[in-house]
Amino acid sequence: MLEQLAEQLKKVKDEAERLLAESKTIEAIRQAESRLMGKQGPLGSLLGQIGKLPAEVRGAAGKEINQAKARITELFAAAKTALEQAADKQASAEQTFDPTLPGPVVPRGSVHPVTAVQWEVEEIMARIGFVVVGGPELETDYYNFEALNIPAMHPARDMQDTFWLTNGWLLRTHTSPCQVRAMLRLGPPLSIIAPGRVFRYETEDASHANTFHQLEGLMIDRHISIANLIAVMKLILTEIFHRDIKVRLRPGYFPFVEPGFELDMQCGICGGSGCPTCKRSGWIEILPCGMVHPNVLRSGNIDPHEYTGFAFGLGLTRLAMMKYGVADIRGLNSGDLRAIIRPEQRSGAAIIDKD
Ligand code: PHE
Repeated sequence: MLEQLAEQLKKVKDEAERLLAESKTIEAIRQAESRLMGKQGPLGSLLGQIGKLPAEVRGAAGKEINQAKARITELFAAAKTALEQAADKQASAEQTFDPTLPGPVVPRGSVHPVTAVQWEVEEIMARIGFVVVGGPELETDYYNFEALNIPAMHPARDMQDTFWLTNGWLLRTHTSPCQVRAMLRLGPPLSIIAPGRVFRYETEDASHANTFHQLEGLMIDRHISIANLIAVMKLILTEIFHRDIKVRLRPGYFPFVEPGFELDMQCGICGGSGCPTCKRSGWIEILPCGMVHPNVLRSGNIDPHEYTGFAFGLGLTRLAMMKYGVADIRGLNSGDLRAIIRPEQRSGAAIIDKD
């Protein structure tokens, strides 16, 4: 009786081994296991018969069967573990992580060319003690014209076509209103720059826009002269263009400066011999400037007998166009990324911007 049982159990074990050899997946192993151990399966039915065996062999037979069951269960568990480990190993071989590899290069945004030159000028001016101030884009007639020695009906008002509001206010036509605002706020001596947006009622073309950027400069102290003005203008241009810049002064008329100048720089494209960029003159008009008019100092509550000063109005938009070779001003205001990308970004070089 027991020998017969041993025979049967050996068959079951052989069957288990055969099934395991065939099973290539965990699911297949599970199925084989339940086929073997299930009530209908060879081991399951043997287990079910223990109770019906004659009492004298029941104990020994039960022990044998249960031992066989434990061995077979173990075999199946080991096979499952082996398969799981192999799967893990393969998965980790497929997704390796190397912390020494450089990270993916994420294309990053940058600032507008006008902002880039603005920051550059701000840094240059900060080095020689100028502070940055602001002013409102929506101005009053007083600060934009009147306080700058341009009374109502003065023909110079026509120099700057103005967007008027129905309440008599206006969109500032230049950053010069920041001059008197700064004088009243800070008092003399003072050295300020005021970058910002300005507006002109203009028909737009490649070199004219109704919205553009200027950077006003104003320095007031005792004994400020034209020599100081020229020195500061030369410094700005030399630093911006990274080369020594030759400049010349021509008389220029602006009611808020006396004398007033147009400061030209020697054309960097032809070196002064004449080319299409400088309209064959060898010079490029870049910086309107002059000595602050006594009436303007008075508007700012400053005594013109004690103090003098110079002022300049740098065209930031124009400077950005020159520096970055932008041919059409409309591109700069369009929001079209192709038009405002800077050459150093095009070449893929690292760009370090203030964030
Ligand atoms: N505000 C003048 C303009 O926009 C420029 C300027 C500024 C001229 C300061 C002289 C001094 O045309």
